Amino acid sequence: MNETLFSIFRNDNLEATENLSKAFESSWKSPSNIALVKYWGKKGQQLPANPSLSLTLTEAYTETSVKAIPADMKSGIKTLNKDPNHPFIPKLQTLLNWVSAEIHELSAFAFEIETRNTFPHSAGIASSASGISAFALCLLDIAYSVLNMPVDNDKFRQLASFAARIGSGSACRSVVPGYSLWGETGLVSGSSDYFAVEINSSVHPYFTGLCDAILMVSSEPKSLASTAGHSQMNIHPYSKARIAQANQNIQNVLSALQQGDIEKLSGIVENEALSLHALIMSAETGTILMAPGTVELIHQIRKARQSGLPLFFTLDAGPNVHLLYPASHSVEAGKYINENLAPLCEKNRVIFDHGGKGPERLFSGVLNLC
Ligand code: PMV
Repeated sequence: MNETLFSIFRNDNLEATENLSKAFESSWKSPSNIALVKYWGKKGQQLPANPSLSLTLTEAYTETSVKAIPADMKSGIKTLNKDPNHPFIPKLQTLLNWVSAEIHELSAFAFEIETRNTFPHSAGIASSASGISAFALCLLDIAYSVLNMPVDNDKFRQLASFAARIGSGSACRSVVPGYSLWGETGLVSGSSDYFAVEINSSVHPYFTGLCDAILMVSSEPKSLASTAGHSQMNIHPYSKARIAQANQNIQNVLSALQQGDIEKLSGIVENEALSLHALIMSAETGTILMAPGTVELIHQIRKARQSGLPLFFTLDAGPNVHLLYPASHSVEAGKYINENLAPLCEKNRVIFDHGGKGPERLFSGVLNLC
């Protein structure tokens, strides 16, 4: 599969020799995403045990700039935010090694990376999704420049999603705008375990630009790395049932999105969030990622829904609550959140976000080293 998708880089007409002595730079802004149906458990080389479906956000994003400089001594990642020993380097280096194995020209460069998030990392707001997708996009951009390849946007995004998956599974969904589906399912033609696809054309306008108010219960790094969580699923007593449940939930979420049925969507999305945490709690380590504030917020949200506000929640692998509501109700929901839910959050912090257009290229080109 690797070879098939990356074969466009092995075209004999491509000539890179001259470019190997030049320096290149690429900068991208790439958003986080929130899963409505969760990816939890993997198989093979970063392939999902079940299909997942998410909303690519707007305000929670990573901005990354990568400089590729002809390597004199050592190729690979030289620095991350000027630090040669940054703890995130190994993850990015794994992705770089994987891409370089197919696009050999990248092995001729040393990479300097600058990156920043608009939100706290490792706190269950999928910072790896935005960070890794931003890096994958920069890397692909540089590969295209080195090989003088014309950019076909659809193909470029597919390849970036394909590569991002290797660094972090959920990152492959961030490359896609709006609603993104990763994992092969007979319900969506063209869906794949290898990259994410967009499903926006089949979503009812009521759910376009769905709002996500991220209610910050804690900005502390989470206590269970997702890599460990995924591998717990290999021996989890409920793993078979989980795969069946996720496939059923994908089917139901797709039809709720299509029909504009918020009641149906709320039920499944909340079931997915609670199932993810139930799986985590019932795994070997018995990890509890919810905090008392998480549970309090869930009760308040359900009370508000009973009184007529179209709100529902989801959770990532952490204590923070993602409160979802249609854009058409953003004024009343915003007022309700500020008055009633923000006071329950850490330092009253709420990140108001919504479904968006996906990653944005900020710069791509040759770098003048003088
Ligand atoms: O992409 P990873 O390996 O960080 O896994 C992400 C898993 C969840 O965030 C818990 C769920 C999801 O689908 O985003």
